[in-house]
Amino acid sequence: MTGPLAALTPVVRVAPAKLNLTLAVIGRRPDGYHDLHSVFVPLTLCDRLSLVPSAGAADTLHMTGFPVGGRSDGGAGSGGADNLVLRALAATRRAVGGGWAGGPGPAPAIAARLDKRIPVAAGLGGGSSDAAAALDGALEVWGAELDDHARSSVAVGLGSDVPFFAAGGPALVEGRGERVTPLHGLRGAPGILLVTPPVAVSTPDVFAAFAAIRGTGDGAVRLSSAHLASELGSGLGTSDLVARAGVMAAANDLLPAVALVLPELMPFRRALSRLLHRPIGLSGSGPTLWVVYPSSSEAVQAAETVRTAAADGSLAIPGDGAPFVAATTIALPLIMLDGSPESRPRAGPESSPGASPPRRIDP
Ligand code: C5P
Repeated sequence: MTGPLAALTPVVRVAPAKLNLTLAVIGRRPDGYHDLHSVFVPLTLCDRLSLVPSAGAADTLHMTGFPVGGRSDGGAGSGGADNLVLRALAATRRAVGGGWAGGPGPAPAIAARLDKRIPVAAGLGGGSSDAAAALDGALEVWGAELDDHARSSVAVGLGSDVPFFAAGGPALVEGRGERVTPLHGLRGAPGILLVTPPVAVSTPDVFAAFAAIRGTGDGAVRLSSAHLASELGSGLGTSDLVARAGVMAAANDLLPAVALVLPELMPFRRALSRLLHRPIGLSGSGPTLWVVYPSSSEAVQAAETVRTAAADGSLAIPGDGAPFVAATTIALPLIMLDGSPESRPRAGPESSPGASPPRRIDP
């Protein structure tokens, strides 16, 4: 390729997973979505997306890692056109129009590589995070910019969780997902254990079940969510967060709906609580369950306990096969780690050699 993009090296983005520490459903909206009040945190567990300009006619996506095409053996595959990365590239190109470094024609095709580490359809937001990373990375590849309004409208058009990832950092998420208020008060890095049984849960099915049985959320969950958001906005240490684990684990309005869609998850959640002697939370619409620990090493130990119990059959796992079990931590943006004014860290260390990595990344 010749022209303004010829000399560029790959643009790399880390795409973190998320947890919902609380999830209050306020009610159904006229557009069919639900208004939420939810505290989201990004995790150091992440996918990695690498983008290069390509001479081809269309964007391409090559995927590796876990799980691709239903395989968990690290097989490789190419994403279908419905993959959120390809949709994000197309939507960003439309929004940029001729306003890129080599304009006024349309921005060129991109060859994307996605290394999946986040289980899919698991309540961890992996696909949405990949989409936010693709949006941001494509702008860098093309030497293009979008103002905040245009960027937000591309993000929310891709999915309700995408604006959270596009903003970066712990946040209160409201509306359908488009209102994101950063919460800068978390101090320290609690250990987080994730356990995802090998069963996919459809988010639309869970919201449909919620609408059928309840329609509006429990006021107590909304109060817990508001309280946690206010504390995380002003200042909360790791031990305070651990002390609130019981409240957070109960603060998900989707729990009764998930119990209808995936009944096996509830006995599994109880069995996990008996095994670990800790409150067990549900992320989003599941099926990922989470446990918060004062330190990473305790989360690592707990992961070992769960793997052993799953392997020796003392913990019955819903679905077919082994669960995804990972010890991770909450990822804080630089502004919260060292007080630097950089509030929107997106690039991994590969894209800016010599610069300090903007996110802590799992080894
Ligand atoms: O926006 P996204 O594609 O991630 O949403 C998936 C589905 O989840 C929607 O079609 C809708 O059924 C449900 N949803 C909702 N309210 C939200 C977010 C998602 O009802 N705030």
